[in-house]
Amino acid sequence: MEKEVITESEEETHQLAKSIAEELQPGDVLCLNGPLGAGKTQFVKGLASYFGIDPATVQSPTFTLIHEYEGRLPIYHFDCYRMEKPEEALEIGAEEYFYREGVSVIEWPEKIMPFIPEHSRWINIESLGPQKRKFIFGNDNK
Ligand SMILES: Nc1ncnc2c1ncn2[C@@H]1O[C@H](COP(=O)(O)OP(=O)(O)OP(=O)(O)O)[C@@H](O)[C@H]1O
Ligand SMILES: [Mg+2]
Repeated sequence: MEKEVITESEEETHQLAKSIAEELQPGDVLCLNGPLGAGKTQFVKGLASYFGIDPATVQSPTFTLIHEYEGRLPIYHFDCYRMEKPEEALEIGAEEYFYREGVSVIEWPEKIMPFIPEHSRWINIESLGPQKRKFIFGNDNK
């Protein structure tokens, strides 16, 4: 069954992300799917702090497209929003990242659909109001 969680503040989203981080294993890939301002980057900040990374260093990687953070597990943070074609993911070496020892987290995964690995977990985020967000955790692909 799909799991759904509603958060009512940025801090609650950080807490939720930490509880998900506990289950993560090297090589996991998380697809964060949701519109602008949904809370994808806030979720990554929560993951980062669980792994001992300063959440202040976590920003949407707009121009570089990928940020790498060193923690107990490294996090590879992708933002594909500005990609015009999926092949741009290959140019930044996305496929190698997906099979490395860190955890890959992808904002705007739909932009690079052909390259999203089978073993990815999807988290869909909906906005229910200014402070309220619904996180829907898929069982498998989408
Ligand atoms: N419950 C909540 N969870 C997460 N963020 C929230 C929540 N309530 C309000 N917010 C606000 O919503 C915004 C979420 O911004 P964030 O950068 O995480 O979005 P995003 O999904 O990464 O967007 P983008 O696609 O532009 O990168 C922040 O300003 C945050 O303070
Ligand atoms: Mg973002």
